[in-house]
Amino acid sequence: MSQSSSQNNEPDPDKQLEVTEALFKCLTEMTRSSTGAFFVDNMLGDIDATVAVANSETGGEYPVGSLVSLIPTEVMIKHREGWNETTNDWEFFELTVSEEGSEIAVRGTTEVVNRFGGNCFGCHMLARSEWDLICGTGHGCAPLPIDRETIANMQNGDPRCIKQD
Ligand code: HEC
Repeated sequence: MSQSSSQNNEPDPDKQLEVTEALFKCLTEMTRSSTGAFFVDNMLGDIDATVAVANSETGGEYPVGSLVSLIPTEVMIKHREGWNETTNDWEFFELTVSEEGSEIAVRGTTEVVNRFGGNCFGCHMLARSEWDLICGTGHGCAPLPIDRETIANMQNGDPRCIKQD
């Protein structure tokens, strides 16, 4: 590596997709993974490629533009190849959601902490490499401190889904 290898953990701005708050949608209007656990989208429109990896039983590398979410406030987005080696080009987002939409509270790579005090990358890095930092179940991550029913309630209670009549 070159002299600049100490910069390896810094995201490369040239490989970064432009993320706007309008990109974050009502969770249950996104595509549900085949396990039913999480929801996916692709901000570049390549939803088929994202769904193919999300539904694969053997894992795989998520394509650029993939957006993944389990609960409304926590999202992962895949930037272009080479954006950040450590996170395999994933950026972690902690959102504040309301009827008005989404606001980005925190975003970044290895330093983002969720509202339960947990470091996103710290947990997600434990997924075995074929799962591309996606925890699911049985991928090697420690389980969440919230049960399946609580997760389902958070998904179904996404305030962004409430339509104005
Ligand atoms: C305590 C460990 C832990 C922390 C901290 C954590 N996650 Fe997760 N995350 C998990 C586990 C385990 C799952 C899988 C849950 C399930 O499906 O039962 C998960 C699921 C997800 C998913 C759905 C895809 C997948 O990996 O299964 C996304 C997206 C996600 N988390 C993003 C985040 C973001 C963003 C943060 C930080 C703001 C975060 N997580 C913090 C452990 C964690």
